[in-house]
Amino acid sequence: MTDSTNILSIRNVYKVFGDQPDTAMQMLRNGESKDQIFDKTGQTVGVFDASFSVKKGEIFVIMGLSGSGKSTMVRLLNRLIEPTAGTIELNGKDITALGDADLLDVRRKEMSMVFQSFALMPHMSVMENAAFGLEISGIERHERERRALEALEQVGLGEHGSSFPHQLSGGMQQRVGLARALANDPTILLMDEAFSALDPLIRYEMQGELIRLQKEQERTIIFISHDLDEAIRIGDRIAIMEGGRVIQVGTPKEIMSNPADEYVETFFKGVDVSKFLKAGDIACKESGCSIRINGAVQPFNPANSQFGYLLDGQDKLQGIVPLNEVDASDNVDALLSRQVKQHQSIYSDDMIKDVIKKVANASYPVPVIARNGRFCGVISKDLLLQTMSHS
Ligand SMILES: Nc1ncnc2c1ncn2[C@@H]1O[C@H](COP(=O)(O)OP(=O)(O)O)[C@@H](O)[C@H]1O
Ligand SMILES: [Mg+2]
Repeated sequence: MTDSTNILSIRNVYKVFGDQPDTAMQMLRNGESKDQIFDKTGQTVGVFDASFSVKKGEIFVIMGLSGSGKSTMVRLLNRLIEPTAGTIELNGKDITALGDADLLDVRRKEMSMVFQSFALMPHMSVMENAAFGLEISGIERHERERRALEALEQVGLGEHGSSFPHQLSGGMQQRVGLARALANDPTILLMDEAFSALDPLIRYEMQGELIRLQKEQERTIIFISHDLDEAIRIGDRIAIMEGGRVIQVGTPKEIMSNPADEYVETFFKGVDVSKFLKAGDIACKESGCSIRINGAVQPFNPANSQFGYLLDGQDKLQGIVPLNEVDASDNVDALLSRQVKQHQSIYSDDMIKDVIKKVANASYPVPVIARNGRFCGVISKDLLLQTMSHS
């Protein structure tokens, strides 16, 4: 998984397209808008005061509508586009200061890019295409074929090395593009709408593949997308861009529960939260009455609950009792004899979408249990409904 080390730090980065970047920068400092600047000077502000950091081993998604500056942003990261201002640090080294040779080295070894159009050479075999980046880097034939084959195997194309691009489906062609980037074994994989041209089913499959690759290899991936479902599915964290600015960075859950402004809030309105919230994120202690039974029955407060959750000294769930059938003077045995038979429970790391049925079918709020066995709370039908309608 991710560790908390920042591998890439972007600070106050700007990109002005046009022949008068200094004029545009001065106007930005004076508070003029992107549109005003374009109207008065014809300069386009592509990226505006962007700052964020990417952690080692995470999938970091940059999301925004078309024209919001995503492609410009990702090309600034490896200086395919030169920043007008700001710093970009890779492992603590400012890459905006690198000379041509060092920069080329960074692009070959540290940051490989996968594009939306597969950019395969039609006259080269799949193997040669996958090895192409290594060939440019001057790696000898035997070694580059070994690495290309390994990368092709990682994306499930180990058997197709001698095929040609036109013999492959779109999804397979994009796998070759991915293999070419992986063969470089880059520190960071940059993917600009890499799956946008694929059919929905193939796209879904590739997203799963990417999640698997990142888990297995602990690779850092920066993934550009204009699709919120995709961003939420694959992103550990998401940066939202609008009009050249990065307006919010966070986990899907953080952004949902605390949108930076109305724009972000509207953007996330239609999102199916059950796809990324986990049971533990919403399990609520108040809606279930816990009754401790270490040795004797400890005093408990039924509040508005209809069910009591019997917990031992280690907070492990021993049973669920309907509170209308017991009272505070009952001993442990009496309580246990009243328990709901064969109750259901769910794990705190289960996705909400996978527990809907259980919650809907149970006659009691379903207890949520951490992997270490501790009771974390309950999910009632009401809570589930509230969550799904994000109120
Ligand atoms: N080479 C360029 N010259 C002038 N304007 C550009 C250039 N590249 C991008 N832009 C402008 O910068 C803004 C951001 O574009 P882009 O980064 O491609 O957005 P996205 O990838 O989010 O669709 C747009 O207004 C676009 O027209
Ligand atoms: Mg783009």
